[in-house]
Amino acid sequence: MLKQETVQIIKATVPVLEVHGVAITKTFYKNMFQKHPELLNIFNHTNQEKGRQQTALANTVYAAAVHIENLGAILPAVRLIAHKHRSLGILPEHYPIVGENLLQAIKEVLGDAATDDIINAWAEAYGVIADIFIQVEEDLYQKSEENGGWRLFKPLKVVKKEVESELVTSIYFENEDGSPLPTYQPGQYISIRVKVPNEEYLMTRQYTLSYANAEEGYRISVKREDEQTPNGKVSNFIHDTLQVGDIVDVSVPAGLFVLEETSAPITFISGGIGVTPLNSMLQSLADDATNEVNFIQCARNEKVVAFSDEIQEKINALPNASYTALYSDEDKLITKELLAEKVADNADVYVCGPVGFMEAVIKNLHEIGVADEKIHYEFFGPAMQLAK
Ligand SMILES: Cc1cc2nc3c(=O)[nH]c(=O)nc-3n(C[C@H](O)[C@H](O)[C@H](O)COP(=O)(O)OP(=O)(O)OC[C@H]3O[C@@H](n4cnc5c(N)ncnc54)[C@H](O)[C@@H]3O)c2cc1C
Ligand code: HEM
Repeated sequence: MLKQETVQIIKATVPVLEVHGVAITKTFYKNMFQKHPELLNIFNHTNQEKGRQQTALANTVYAAAVHIENLGAILPAVRLIAHKHRSLGILPEHYPIVGENLLQAIKEVLGDAATDDIINAWAEAYGVIADIFIQVEEDLYQKSEENGGWRLFKPLKVVKKEVESELVTSIYFENEDGSPLPTYQPGQYISIRVKVPNEEYLMTRQYTLSYANAEEGYRISVKREDEQTPNGKVSNFIHDTLQVGDIVDVSVPAGLFVLEETSAPITFISGGIGVTPLNSMLQSLADDATNEVNFIQCARNEKVVAFSDEIQEKINALPNASYTALYSDEDKLITKELLAEKVADNADVYVCGPVGFMEAVIKNLHEIGVADEKIHYEFFGPAMQLAK
């Protein structure tokens, strides 16, 4: 428990820190990586460059501080982050490094305004917040060791590489000794850690398991990121260099964007490579599932779309299901009218795609009266606040 004075200082300084939030976290990362370059093997450098990670961390520390007297309120957010941390191999010994550098950054940015009382209060609050993360993550580590799993990364073998479309290629991983891999919930992702030639540090990225079960191994399906400069590091490495027989470090499946068991109708709405978790969820439905199921798949065109055959096959097998493909090159975009038709009363809606796509779809869903708790979505990057 924090002392009442400490709580008061925290509450009084949150608005000040929020104003300087991004400056503080930028200073924090710069200092931390200078002192601990080994952490560059863990962090996603691109998210750093683009500032997304800074914003996510700043938001969370302040959200936690605002609720410092009732940290239960932030537990759902902590669980989501803890899944990501666990899949990246974040350990208790990393927390003091982050804490020390965060406090140092607050001092640097606030200057004389950062009195000893303020710094001490934040040190105490950070300790409390860090302990919660450490505990939730330890629970997840223990769970990941059950069911044939492991704690951190395990070398798995690439057993198959399959082109799905002009942009998307799947990779299948298996245990080197052929023993079964741990089961997972459809929608979950793994982290893979690779050494990309000419890069100084290891690179870790998350990829959703794109099939419902691990019978043929873990399947990930990767979109080649080559339309912006610089080209995506890991996706291009996977497409161009990774071969069958190669060994890759992989963590146990993680994530909370999973299909909830229900007899209510379900609508899946994917944009581009966001189809991976939704296909996995769809494939996990029993062939005699009587729910009304509607799948809307948006992509640029037929050449780049992935899994449309696999999805249609499953949709045909289900008794009460429909599939709609919308190609933007043919000017076919998702509309409110289509959503009104394909989202039945009381349906659970699962959305995954680029940020702008999800923003537009979720806005339309709100406008046709779908309640927030029925809308489930995931970002393929650090969680962000959607513009509403
Ligand atoms: C939970 C989750 C699930 C995911 N599932 C999938 C999946 O199933 N399939 C899939 O393909 N991806 C998935 N992703 C995304 C994946 O993790 C990678 O982010 C993606 O493959 C790009 O990685 P990369 O190394 O190729 O690109 P990076 O090197 O990380 O670059 C990403 C983009 O940023 C741009 N960029 C790089 N540096 C800069 C800079 N300095 N300034 C501005 N722009 C820059 C690049 O041009 C590129 O377009 C998922 C992500 C998450 C978090
Ligand atoms: C209380 C302290 C911490 C908080 C509040 C915090 C918060 C966050 C948040 C909000 C995210 C984004 C999650 C997402 O939506 O994907 C994240 C990701 C991450 N965190 Fe933490 N974190 C903390 C401690 C740490 C520590 C100690 C480390 C290791 C040194 C760490 C390493 C990472 C990494 C590597 C990512 C993924 C980054 C990326 O994809 O760029 N975090 N954290």
